[in-house]
Amino acid sequence: EQLRSVLERMPKAELHIHIEGSLEPELIFALAQRNRVSLPYDSVEALRAAYAFTDLQSFLDIYYAGASVLLTEQDFHDMTAAYLERAAADNVRHAEIFFDPQTHTARGVPFETAIKGIWRACQEGPISASLIMCFLRHLSEEDALATLEASLPHRDKFIGVGLDSSEVGHPPEKFARVFERARQLGLRLVAHAGEEGPPAYIESALDVLKVERIDHGVRSLESPALVERLAREGMALTVCPLSNIKLRVFDVMGSHNLRELLDRGLAATVNSDDPAYFGGYMNDNFIAAFEALPLDVTHARQLARNSFTASFLDPERKRAYL
Ligand code: ADE
Ligand code: ZN
Repeated sequence: EQLRSVLERMPKAELHIHIEGSLEPELIFALAQRNRVSLPYDSVEALRAAYAFTDLQSFLDIYYAGASVLLTEQDFHDMTAAYLERAAADNVRHAEIFFDPQTHTARGVPFETAIKGIWRACQEGPISASLIMCFLRHLSEEDALATLEASLPHRDKFIGVGLDSSEVGHPPEKFARVFERARQLGLRLVAHAGEEGPPAYIESALDVLKVERIDHGVRSLESPALVERLAREGMALTVCPLSNIKLRVFDVMGSHNLRELLDRGLAATVNSDDPAYFGGYMNDNFIAAFEALPLDVTHARQLARNSFTASFLDPERKRAYL
């Protein structure tokens, strides 16, 4: 009712969205047809029915398969334009968008095809957007280093690097050298940590990779010393409530720890992660969390404020939102 309308209407920033995760089944089928790619599903409904995940890996297998219909610069553009439009409808004013170049270069799609299409859509609006290039952590650091080198002709099109894909068994320190190189290049640094992986992965993301935000980070609460440090440093966590339920990080929304993260003084934000796969965009995430948890309008304003504070907007633009 009234809280719902506050959640919907408040200006917000989205800091954790994988653009390939915004690819809706309808667009997957349209692009498959346009590119004459065959899909192992007969219909949009059959594809959607396959979205029953048991953990992160079971999702990633389908997510990489879905991305296989992206072949041309126009495909990447159209996917991104659809997301930006949808985000604007949720009163997202600024988005920092992840993309996974290795998912495409491994299929023979050139790096520049992906980034040019995504970037062109971001230039067109309707909201402000910046790009963060993610390295796939199930691949080698050498592959990540080669990707960083390949990205340099397009250095002006992205603001930072991140780390995603299968977390457990691929700790942040595996990517120490490529993050060091990115840091020397003046790129902003983030990493997924503490989604399925232990608090130690959050610590090494901070200490070894020197990241400026933690993506997810919900398992931080298992370590009181880490919580104390994250609070002291004002380290932002980009939390994704619907994702955490769909990937079974928590059983039900009522057991999500978002309220506790805020109570411990952590700079949590709410984000959609892979909205086409997890059942909702920004406002769906806010509404689902606020319906299931003891969160009120004060928490809503705090989360919106945190999203701008934790963004990589320049200080003047940031101040205009706070
Ligand atoms: N790639 C897309 N979404 C992801 C997530 N939630 N965790 C890790 N890698 C991802
Ligand atoms: Zn993610």
